[in-house]
Amino acid sequence: MENSHIILSVLVSLLFLNPIFHGAARTEDGSETWGYVEVRPKAHMFWWYYKSPYRTQDSNNPWPIILWLQGGPGASGVGIGNFEEVGPLDTFLKPRNSTWLREADLLFVDNPVGTGYSYVEDTNLLVKTDYEAANDLTTLLIDIFDKNESLQKSPLYIVAESYGGKYAVTLGLSALKAIETGKLKLKLGGIALGDTWISPEDFVFSWGPLLKDVSRIDKNGLLKSNRSTFLDFSAICSNLAEQIKQQIEAGKFVEATDSWGELEDVITSSSNSVDFYNFLLDSGMDPVSLTASELSKQIGIKRYSRYLNSLRSTPGGEGDINSLMNGEIKKKLQIIPTNVQWGGQSDLVFTALEGDFMRPRIDEVDELLAKGVNVTVYNGQFDVICSTKGTEAWVEKLKWDGLKTFLDIERTPIYCGNEKITKGFTKSYRNLHFYWILGAGHFVPVDQPCVALNMLGDITQSPVASTI
Ligand SMILES: *[C@@H]1O[C@H](CO)[C@@H](O)[C@H](O)[C@H]1NC(C)=O
Ligand SMILES: *[C@@H]1O[C@H](CO)[C@@H](O)[C@H](O)[C@H]1NC(C)=O
Ligand SMILES: *[C@@H]1O[C@H](CO)[C@@H](O)[C@H](O)[C@H]1NC(C)=O
Ligand SMILES: *[C@@H]1O[C@H](CO)[C@@H](O)[C@H](O)[C@H]1NC(C)=O
Repeated sequence: MENSHIILSVLVSLLFLNPIFHGAARTEDGSETWGYVEVRPKAHMFWWYYKSPYRTQDSNNPWPIILWLQGGPGASGVGIGNFEEVGPLDTFLKPRNSTWLREADLLFVDNPVGTGYSYVEDTNLLVKTDYEAANDLTTLLIDIFDKNESLQKSPLYIVAESYGGKYAVTLGLSALKAIETGKLKLKLGGIALGDTWISPEDFVFSWGPLLKDVSRIDKNGLLKSNRSTFLDFSAICSNLAEQIKQQIEAGKFVEATDSWGELEDVITSSSNSVDFYNFLLDSGMDPVSLTASELSKQIGIKRYSRYLNSLRSTPGGEGDINSLMNGEIKKKLQIIPTNVQWGGQSDLVFTALEGDFMRPRIDEVDELLAKGVNVTVYNGQFDVICSTKGTEAWVEKLKWDGLKTFLDIERTPIYCGNEKITKGFTKSYRNLHFYWILGAGHFVPVDQPCVALNMLGDITQSPVASTI
């Protein structure tokens, strides 16, 4: 019944599109609104807002809004997060039962500029640091929220995946500053970090030992060539990780990014191409990772994307995200300039951020905790790139005064639906919350939709109890 409601509203929205107003447009029923904000002259950021059909009206328990921040850098929230992870429709435009609209309104953005449908008229305008991205996002929020009193009543939760975590914590601080100075009319509900790249150093150190423990690499690696026969892969991994650590400490972030690429290559060859997003899989098998371009050099992505398309569906056919976003969805949205290709500038976004890519953002998490903001960290068990092992390592580096108690308290098991099987564990102390999600890789909402949705309900204290 609820699904047919969604289908109906999508049909209605396709049929009766309102005329364009002020660089934005919406469906006749008002359930979806989208537009561009010129965050700096000639830098255009695209956003898409979905109002939940489950929305309740209770001023004591206001309906929450989720801002979803995709990683990459350069992966599109409007495309990947929306159609492949949590939005109302999948890439076949079929309803998604586990859509996060069940618990919140959803705001997707193509961030930073240059990603997805966002574009810059001059490539010098691409952002070079996380803070530049955060400033653009704050400008976007001011544009969307300050002129809409009904939105201001809803608390905004920033939920980030992968590299998006670095934008989320810098945006959290930048938004709080704008709220304090009265520039932004918004209530920040909290921040959730899902398999996020908060401390690159801790992740690169985790890869070798983790993959060794789960039998995916061996001390001797694979005998790929004559030359590598005598190489000790564990030693190479730890030497490279140590090199990366020193480069980060010396502030040589571009060099650290290059060494990171080198370490990825070593892991790939010594593991017979493990999937960095799920160590149970081989590279190219995870249905989301390749189109999502999460934390991967574009060359690597291109090498595998044809393989992925052949797995998912016929390239150019139904279900192919590129064709979808540059075809049917672009037509529906109406306001995308004809010369703007979805994903056309995405490759450049990663390169522009090369100097900030390896910079840690643990201090920003500490600042948010000190300000009393609710911070939730969740991590998929099978993730490699942003492994749970690495996440635990950076959490232990927090200077926050609640850390010791947090580390000492016991975890609570998580179940989902009627199943009596352990799906994860959680613990909370004051404003820090942690979820260990079993049976999931990097893309938690895709691998464990039921757990992810219940968790979202807890994070946002959503007025509706989850129904799946
Ligand atoms: C702003 O508020 C109105 C209700 O007053 C709503 O219909 C509209 O969709 C909102 N704008 C956005 C961007 O959601
Ligand atoms: C090893 O090296 C030799 C000489 O360089 C070469 O002829 C041979 O094909 C190589 N073997 C493998 C398995 O690569
Ligand atoms: C943080 O989350 C808890 C629920 O986990 C809630 O009771 C509390 O009010 C939240 N704090 C803030 C500042 O939003
Ligand atoms: C969707 O969720 C409902 C419970 O809300 C469940 O009964 C139904 O089987 C689910 N449908 C699919 C296709 O998973």
